[in-house]
Amino acid sequence: MQQPVILISGASRGIGLAAARQLSARGAIVLVASRSFDRAQQAAAAMGGAATALQLDVTDECSIALAVSEVATRFGRLDVLVNNAAVLLDHHESISLLKREVLSETFATNVSGALCLAQAMLPLLEKSSDPRIINVSSRAGQLGSELQTWAPAYSMSKSALNMLTQQLAAAYPGIAVNSMCPGWCRTEMGGPDAPRSADEGADTLVWLAMDAPHALRGNFIKNRETIHW
Ligand SMILES: NC(=O)c1ccc[n+]([C@@H]2O[C@H](COP(=O)([O-])OP(=O)(O)OC[C@H]3O[C@@H](n4cnc5c(N)ncnc54)[C@H](OP(=O)(O)O)[C@@H]3O)[C@@H](O)[C@H]2O)c1
Repeated sequence: MQQPVILISGASRGIGLAAARQLSARGAIVLVASRSFDRAQQAAAAMGGAATALQLDVTDECSIALAVSEVATRFGRLDVLVNNAAVLLDHHESISLLKREVLSETFATNVSGALCLAQAMLPLLEKSSDPRIINVSSRAGQLGSELQTWAPAYSMSKSALNMLTQQLAAAYPGIAVNSMCPGWCRTEMGGPDAPRSADEGADTLVWLAMDAPHALRGNFIKNRETIHW
């Protein structure tokens, strides 16, 4: 079997890095992306195997275009795109004080970044025999459950990301597009008190990338099971 080519945005640390390590250990060719090429290189070098560093800022169209061209030249296709890069800028801020700039910056990375990267990678994904897009979302964006109010901009961005998942799944029936929630994890974003390690948080992501049936698409997944939006 061909080794899958998997690009993970924001793989320099946290859940992205943990997923990259696990996928690399399973024989995938992992493109470890970071805004800093040095950080990407350090992370990829520590994995050994076929891990490759990629400079990628999902808010920068030029950076996205260069990443597409690099993947096209080196591999000619992309099997799995993981939209993992995200920012959390309004931790413990009230909706009444939320600034326009904070909302814009949050959406630029967490939503527009995921959309533009997916759009740019679509021609390469369409060259795969088993194309997948995994959007790393959060229970913070879940509608219809216990409302999360601790970071309103972040929550709204993850609700929008979930809608992006549904829109892409409807537009591209040949691509297994899903959102996933890693659970609360000990990372720079999650802080030291979270109950899960980054490796535990990456488990469902790795499963969606390598093991989940292709027919599983247009869903929100946590702990390898579909949850409501
Ligand atoms: N930790 C949790 O408890 C938790 C819970 C639910 C969901 N999540 C989600 O899981 C994902 C990973 O979170 P994490 O906890 O691992 O966060 P993290 O430790 O803060 O890592 C975030 C990553 O995103 C990258 N990044 C930020 N802005 C970027 C941009 N403009 N372009 C490209 N990369 C960018 C950073 O890389 P560079 O600085 O090197 O570019 C970093 O590697 C996120 O989508 C997050 O919303 C996390």
